[in-house]
Amino acid sequence: MIKKRERILITGCGGMLGEGVYHNLKNRCKVFATDKDVNEPWLEYLDVSLSNDVEKYLRKTNPDYIVHLAAFTDMEYCETNPEEAYATNEGGVKNFLAYARKNNTPFVYISTAGIFDGEKDAYSEDDKPNPLSIYGKSKYAGELAAQSVKHSIIIRAGWMMGGGPNKDKKFINKIIKQLQAGAEELSVVDDKLGTPCYTYDLARIIEHLLDKRACGVYHGACSGSGSRYDVAKHLITQLSLDSRVKVKKVDSQFFKESYFAPRPRSEKLLNTKIPHLIRDWRVCLEEYIKKFDWKLINKN
Ligand SMILES: NC(=O)c1ccc[n+]([C@@H]2O[C@H](COP(=O)([O-])OP(=O)(O)OC[C@H]3O[C@@H](n4cnc5c(N)ncnc54)[C@H](OP(=O)(O)O)[C@@H]3O)[C@@H](O)[C@H]2O)c1
Repeated sequence: MIKKRERILITGCGGMLGEGVYHNLKNRCKVFATDKDVNEPWLEYLDVSLSNDVEKYLRKTNPDYIVHLAAFTDMEYCETNPEEAYATNEGGVKNFLAYARKNNTPFVYISTAGIFDGEKDAYSEDDKPNPLSIYGKSKYAGELAAQSVKHSIIIRAGWMMGGGPNKDKKFINKIIKQLQAGAEELSVVDDKLGTPCYTYDLARIIEHLLDKRACGVYHGACSGSGSRYDVAKHLITQLSLDSRVKVKKVDSQFFKESYFAPRPRSEKLLNTKIPHLIRDWRVCLEEYIKKFDWKLINKN
């Protein structure tokens, strides 16, 4: 169990998952929330790719747990800037290893379904990774580095949804931004399959695994699966926009200029170790939509 007097360092906490993780842990013990994007009053600056800065920060805060969320998550940026991607996604993990090994510190690392090649229909925790993109490769390199810590907890996430209008950089908010701009027809791929992952449920999984002093590899996405098209259709229904907005199926070739990083055909994750901690992605999406004011005018 995490004790009130203990200290948790969270990296990359200004992002979409960090928002949920911070609010979930902040009353459990002393939390040091850091990011290189200091977008909240409760965040401190820490760039995980700078080993001297990391070392100094660890000396100053002496954490009992490290929850490492910092990463470059834009797949196209990673594809065109591989050195930066590796410096943060792999190097950013390595900078914590000496401290974690020396102090037996539980180290949480969030990996991705993108470490698989998508040739199988769905992936369990024991399936063999074979990443296709620079993002996937650099995240898998980070996963291998994290595995070298005795008390590492590696949680592979799926298609992230959470953080709300200001922090969500991914699919749900990209669709919502099109709707805000007045789109009446959305083109959405139906040849990419996956499992959405709700940041607020993942935050609870992180807390649970830290409390249990667990270690090993886990899958932390929601239950159920679908294509991007299925997710967009469900979102439009939840927003009561079915009669106004048409969702058109396209294949990945349609977006080959803007989304050029290679993506697996299937990123479906099976959660065989902690199935009791997850909910169906549709239930989570419904909750997510109600949680924030998305500033959409419902014209139904
Ligand atoms: N988003 C997804 O779909 C997804 C799926 C599976 C796994 N994950 C993993 O989940 C974790 C959390 O990601 P997220 O979904 O919350 O994405 P996010 O919103 O992009 O959050 C990541 C945060 O890390 C920050 N960061 C980047 N480089 C850094 C550095 N060198 N030092 C310190 N902070 C740095 C980012 O700042 P900037 O915004 O300024 O870059 C951002 O605030 C990541 O490890 C990610 O790889 C994400």
